[in-house]
Amino acid sequence: MQEKAISIRNLYELSEDQLKQLKTVTVVGWVKNNRNSGKVGFIALHDGTCFKNLQVVYDADKPFFNDVSRYKMGSAVRFVGELVLTPGMKQPFEVHATEAVLLGDVADDYPLQKKKTSFEYLRDLAYLRPRTNTFDAVFRVRSVLAMGVHTFFQNNGFVYVHTPEITGNDAEGAGSVFTVITDSKEDPINDFYGRRASLTVSGQLHVEAFALAFKDVYTFGPTFRAEKSNTPRHASEFWMIEPELAFADLDDDMDCIESCIKFLIQWVMDKCPDEMDFFDRWIAPGVKDKLNHVLNSPFRRMEYTEGIKILQEAVKNGHKFENNNIEWGMDLQSEHERYLTEEYVKGPTFLMNYPKEIKAFYMRENDDGKTVAAVDLLVPGEGEIVGGSQREERYDILKAKMDKIGNTEGLEWYLNLRKYGGCIHSGFGIGFDRLLMYITGIANIRDTEPYPRTSSALKY
Ligand code: 4AD
Ligand code: MG
Repeated sequence: MQEKAISIRNLYELSEDQLKQLKTVTVVGWVKNNRNSGKVGFIALHDGTCFKNLQVVYDADKPFFNDVSRYKMGSAVRFVGELVLTPGMKQPFEVHATEAVLLGDVADDYPLQKKKTSFEYLRDLAYLRPRTNTFDAVFRVRSVLAMGVHTFFQNNGFVYVHTPEITGNDAEGAGSVFTVITDSKEDPINDFYGRRASLTVSGQLHVEAFALAFKDVYTFGPTFRAEKSNTPRHASEFWMIEPELAFADLDDDMDCIESCIKFLIQWVMDKCPDEMDFFDRWIAPGVKDKLNHVLNSPFRRMEYTEGIKILQEAVKNGHKFENNNIEWGMDLQSEHERYLTEEYVKGPTFLMNYPKEIKAFYMRENDDGKTVAAVDLLVPGEGEIVGGSQREERYDILKAKMDKIGNTEGLEWYLNLRKYGGCIHSGFGIGFDRLLMYITGIANIRDTEPYPRTSSALKY
């Protein structure tokens, strides 16, 4: 029977004593690189279990030397060999092959070649790009970050709620929904559910009901928005983390956002040091310093009204925005958000208490009658990565608002929550892909999602 292969990750986790006892090992993986001097050859073997490769050495005195020297980059292989410690070398150990098997050869038209390829080119090869160093790092960090999300919330007593992907309401009231249709000829839109159905833009409304039963909850799953914004930060399918906290106001909300973001940054830096070194060196020089700075500084809390004054002051002092018309009441564009967080604060910034006209119907109206208890977290290099608010818990005020925008039908249950033991509550949504961009320094959301969905792009 064939010996079971040990993963490269396992090898790196073993102590020196344990490694010494191993002697012979079987390893499987893909050839990253293969070079030989005619006397001895070296294969960098990658098996995807960690960022590091394993060096496999094959000698000219072995009968398979000529065969192995022809193994191409990308081919699937198995080696049996002796594990040899190599103190003082670049890698702490290597395998000296005694057996070699080519499990899967690579055809000559293999599109991934050794030369450096652009992210755009690789986007078109979504099924192969996980084999490159960059995407190996990105997608492992994505997995680790997801586990970090669950760890943070579970450790803090939050209950995980699976809110539905198919829904009858447009939670954000923004209208950019994908409609779900069936193949019925008569009425493809209303046939299945007997009413219009769409893919969710947010699990918030559904998860609010659970917060009023479990106190602290979160949902974490895919969300869909049919916005045609062709930017590096917008996808039509993305993942969102939406926590909801009962008996919590906007300050409690911001406290939770800040500790969550800091926990997740620390989590990735602890669990993925090789990947973070790679990003720091090749993708976004300085990203580790940036994250360490974030970990060690309190996030600035700024009123929207103050933000407007700062932007007006900047224009007065000669700063040129594409939109230089800064007025109270306007929805800030990315350039304005970035000025505040990058140039003015130079760090993560909570912007809060926005004009009610530009925010969603469920946000709690402040006593000034003009603003709502909303908050966005802005970060340098990216702008908004979190949006949240204290929810309107007063039945009459909420109902009047919903009636005014014609968004009551089908949401009676949501209003009822304000009648049946309602309490103040707050929550937020973290764009998971945007957070991953921020942590890795990857500049385009299309390079953080395994199979990105944006308008006019559905190749895979
Ligand atoms: O600010 P948004 O629209 O807030 C909500 O959906 C609320 N229901 C959240 C809540 O309070 N429970 O979206 C939240 C975050 C944004 O800050 C952004 O990071 C991300 O989701 N996001 C997108 N990410 C990628 N592509 C898009 N098209 C996105 N739209 C929003
Ligand atoms: Mg928002």
